[in-house]
Amino acid sequence: MGEFVRVARVDEVAPGQGKLVEVDGRYIALFNVDGQFYAVDDECTHAAASLSEGFVEGTIVECPLHGGQFDLRTGEAVWSPAVIPVATYAVRVEGDDVLVDPEPRQPGHGG
Ligand code: FES
Repeated sequence: MGEFVRVARVDEVAPGQGKLVEVDGRYIALFNVDGQFYAVDDECTHAAASLSEGFVEGTIVECPLHGGQFDLRTGEAVWSPAVIPVATYAVRVEGDDVLVDPEPRQPGHGG
């Protein structure tokens, strides 16, 4: 596990919304699901689309390009055409700040 890095303020990501953040050169999509924050790789594992611009329903994000879906809790691809899981990152809230560990919890994207 790496160092947690501050990426946003809690009120910068409304519930049901995503936000693109950059940590250590990685593009990470941060989501607020009813006050619970999740972070996954921003790039969809199917093609080049930004998951932070996707649609959030519960803990599922739907890719804005082809509608592939991922579970934000595990990164698992749950709806085609997405089949490869997306990497997830540990998130911590400290006061008004959202922090992300830029070390993926499990790899997506084949590595
Ligand atoms: S780019 Fe995300 S499902 Fe195709």
